[in-house]
Amino acid sequence: MKKTRVVVIGTGAVGSTTAYTLLLRNRMDELVLIDANHNKAVGDALDMNHGMPFTGGAKLWAGTYEDCREADIIIITAGAAQRDGETRVDLLKRNVSIFDSIIEEVSKVNTQAILLIASNPVDIMSYFTWRKLQWPINRIIGSGTLLDSARFRYLIGEKLDIDPRSVHAHIVGEHGDSELPLWSLANVAGAQLQLSDEDKEDIFTNTRDAAYQIIDAKGATYYAIALALDRICTAILRDEGAVLNVSTLLQDYHGISDVYLGVPCIVDRQGVREVMNITITDSEKELLQCSANKLKGLIESISP
Ligand code: NAD
Ligand code: LAC
Repeated sequence: MKKTRVVVIGTGAVGSTTAYTLLLRNRMDELVLIDANHNKAVGDALDMNHGMPFTGGAKLWAGTYEDCREADIIIITAGAAQRDGETRVDLLKRNVSIFDSIIEEVSKVNTQAILLIASNPVDIMSYFTWRKLQWPINRIIGSGTLLDSARFRYLIGEKLDIDPRSVHAHIVGEHGDSELPLWSLANVAGAQLQLSDEDKEDIFTNTRDAAYQIIDAKGATYYAIALALDRICTAILRDEGAVLNVSTLLQDYHGISDVYLGVPCIVDRQGVREVMNITITDSEKELLQCSANKLKGLIESISP
């Protein structure tokens, strides 16, 4: 049987934590780490390999783009990260040029893998990757608002004293400042949430601004995004059909087309199998369109 291989490109805070999470959870047979700073990848691979007597598991090494050839999933977490006070969008120009060279190298050896992108601004990086490669949309996936939705569910769970896994609630739109909560669909066991308007405002503000809070406190975010990326990989590798708020190219979706945004999608071995057809309120639709327009404006501003 063919071995499953995941490649992580960019083994900084997010990439190395993602690799470690995938390894601990035994998600694949082979795991390859690639970084422009090859020594960093070599060090991470050694460090994780020394844990094998405690875990067993995947064959893991620091590789080159040639190792992407056999990959099922290639996760891209390379590039600049926000410094204190920067927004995700401030990274745009730097990361677009880094991505140009990465995806060119990847596509020389593999055109069949699923690309899972986390580098920011993630919706625009995913869109540029898709536009440059022209691969089927289902195989170029951004981590989208899966992390934001997890933060949202955690905060709702805390407020209601309910396990966040039992809270069904979605953040959609840009992974960033224009994202929005779908309160109209939020529920526990099908029941609407018993929260005041003030509680809702607090929960959403803390969700949207969580990254700023964490970056201010310790310089970067990486544990929860690593778990979110692990969740997406699992949905793909196990052909789950899980509903996850990943970023995909929207076409004729609540009046939105030609932009990558985080919305509930069905994810399986094909990648994004389907965008869920959800009913939202007029005000949610308006906010979603604003989020889409913000990203389209940014895309135009840096398009050749
Ligand atoms: P980091 O600076 O710790 O790591 C980035 C790594 O990319 C470094 O090791 C660097 O050497 C490598 N790199 C740079 N250029 C490269 C190239 N051309 N080829 C290969 N490797 C290259 O940053 P981080 O904290 O790990 O964040 C990485 C990215 O993930 C940032 O853009 C950050 O904003 C984003 N991020 C996204 C989410 C999300 O929810 N999508 C969450 C957290 C962070
Ligand atoms: C996050 C990153 C910074 O943690 O996008 O949301």
